[in-house]
Amino acid sequence: DWNPGHVIADQVAAIRAQVGTGKVICGLSGGVDSAVAAALVHEAVGDQLVCVFVDHGLLRQDERRQVEEDYVAATGVRLVTVDAEEQFLSALAGVTDPEQKRKIIGREFIRTFEQAQAALIAEAQEADGDPIKYLVQGTLYPDVVESGGGSGTATIKSHHNVGGLPDDLTFELVEPLRTLFKDEVRAIGRELGLPETIVGRQPFPGPGLGIRIVGEVTAERLDLLRAADAIAREELTAAGLDGEIWQCPVVLLADVRSVGVQGDGRTYGHPIVLRPVSSEDAMTADWTRLPYDVLARISNRITNQVPGVNRVVLDVTSKPPGTIEWE
Ligand code: XMP
Repeated sequence: DWNPGHVIADQVAAIRAQVGTGKVICGLSGGVDSAVAAALVHEAVGDQLVCVFVDHGLLRQDERRQVEEDYVAATGVRLVTVDAEEQFLSALAGVTDPEQKRKIIGREFIRTFEQAQAALIAEAQEADGDPIKYLVQGTLYPDVVESGGGSGTATIKSHHNVGGLPDDLTFELVEPLRTLFKDEVRAIGRELGLPETIVGRQPFPGPGLGIRIVGEVTAERLDLLRAADAIAREELTAAGLDGEIWQCPVVLLADVRSVGVQGDGRTYGHPIVLRPVSSEDAMTADWTRLPYDVLARISNRITNQVPGVNRVVLDVTSKPPGTIEWE
């Protein structure tokens, strides 16, 4: 019988055997995998671990707080947050091409993470002459299989993984989730007492809201999209639909405007797209047949509460031919 307690005990022993008294660093993305991997390492070696969380300004509402407060309270890990919103937004200024956006976000992410890492390495070195030698990665079993497979398929989108690192890395990797599937990782996270907001989280792309704004990414547009996304998530959760959908990207069509009417006045605002999908592994997906009353509530709230948005539309495309994300 598969038992999360046994897996935790085994992994804790294996991590201790691997790193001994060495220092360890881990990038947290806000997602399940890095959160559970770091919690396991912390369970094994405590404050030999330091975690880094990059706030690139492309996060959803509340995500930073969930990591900084809830996750830290639950685990006791030492966390360094890097405020990099301005840096990311200025690098993205004027950029509308999706692949260009992905490249910029990936590049800035690595740059930011490496700077934080360098500062922590210097600090650790100064403290007792002992460098940081180990890097935690939340690699899962399917990732291991996939990267070993060499399927030779063409790149449709250049996937950027938060925590994805350059080739010349000089760390030894610690990968406590390498034999596990996603649902097992969630079970372990729950056993370790991690907050449900993190353990139950649906997939969210590394480039964040940056690839959910069709058009240029600006601070104002991000605020607007964050507000719409929060409403959609709140209503889906309240309707008990989280188990039914794989994820529901909410997309702002910043380059499109349409005429509307509100009160006595004409509006000329942007549409928000809802993209609820059902899937097993994100390779293929079907659009989720959400109940009309839930769609109506989301639409009413977004058009009433998010200034600048006067229309909500539903994406009814499966994958293929559509991808899950719009960019
Ligand atoms: P697509 O849009 O390719 O998305 O159908 C498939 C799944 O991957 C997620 N996604 C990403 N995840 N970095 C990530 O870590 C990325 O750059 C990225 N792009 C897409 C997407 O949310 C969906 O779950």
